[in-house]
Amino acid sequence: MVKNLAVSIAGVVLKNPVMPASGTFGSGRMYSKFVDLSKLGAVAVKGVSMEPWEGNPPHRIAETPSGILNSIGLQNPGVEAWLDSDLPFLRRFDTKIIVNICGHTMDECAAVAQRLKSEPVDMLELNISCPNVSAGGMAFGLSADTVEKVVSAVKKSSMQPLIVKLSPNVTSIADIAKAAEASGADALSLINTVMGMQIDIHKRRPTLSNAIGGLSGPAIRPVAVRMVYQAARAVSIPIIGMGGIVDSDGAIEFLMAGATAVAVGTANFGNPSVMLEIIDGISKFMDENGVSDVNDFKKMME
Ligand SMILES: Cc1cc2nc3c(=O)[nH]c(=O)nc-3n(C[C@H](O)[C@H](O)[C@H](O)COP(=O)(O)O)c2cc1C
Repeated sequence: MVKNLAVSIAGVVLKNPVMPASGTFGSGRMYSKFVDLSKLGAVAVKGVSMEPWEGNPPHRIAETPSGILNSIGLQNPGVEAWLDSDLPFLRRFDTKIIVNICGHTMDECAAVAQRLKSEPVDMLELNISCPNVSAGGMAFGLSADTVEKVVSAVKKSSMQPLIVKLSPNVTSIADIAKAAEASGADALSLINTVMGMQIDIHKRRPTLSNAIGGLSGPAIRPVAVRMVYQAARAVSIPIIGMGGIVDSDGAIEFLMAGATAVAVGTANFGNPSVMLEIIDGISKFMDENGVSDVNDFKKMME
């Protein structure tokens, strides 16, 4: 059977629908010892801001029964350092480059997009789970109103197609997805981490120094699949689905829910080759089930 694994997101063609989730793969340098990055549909890099961010103090990661809590705080070296060091490294591979951008203000988010305008990156992914300093630290992504403002501002400054990465910590993901689409998003990615907390009962205090963190990994997969399903029915732009994917069955769930592509995050920590296994697993499932085009999965769930 002639098979197609390629997908298109806002006109950018990915050889297959699998990529790392931002922040869990750096820019791929360490993982490239285990994974041929050219085999991935894309690489979404860790969030990049205008200036270097230190992130939160340790303790920043806690294990939970079915995932991890993190409060890294978007630590990164800033866009100039990223351009000097990571972009030339990534350009050596035959894959698409997605730069995840963040900022404490709308202007800062827009400034990163502006700085990347003439750089050889394929797409931008705007992380609207960053704390919005001018709104008292509430993330941009939690109200349709701030989503519209930040997406419009960043879109105006962007040259590359803009993916907007949605927070799951909202009442109606459909309303937020529609607000992002109406403000110029070319694609959506979801979900970011789910707010959570763990208490060290012996020390009688939260495990994370920041008290609250973001939960990722298998625990959040049903939440993520539900949100992708709802968002896909609310908008007509492509969706990159993520949240708790650890194998090809999980990836196919997202594709059937309406995602065009999928991203794998926390699972990379335990198994650096997991994305290659997922690509093979999707291909095998297609052979066994007579699916000739990976884009057909989303039509199976009408
Ligand atoms: C340690 C860590 C760092 C992350 N950093 C970012 C980031 O910089 N930007 C972003 O948009 N999402 C970030 N995320 C969220 C992931 O990209 C992803 O949306 C989330 O972890 C759900 O996928 P998973 O369950 O497969 O990990 C981070 C997640 C983790 C665990």
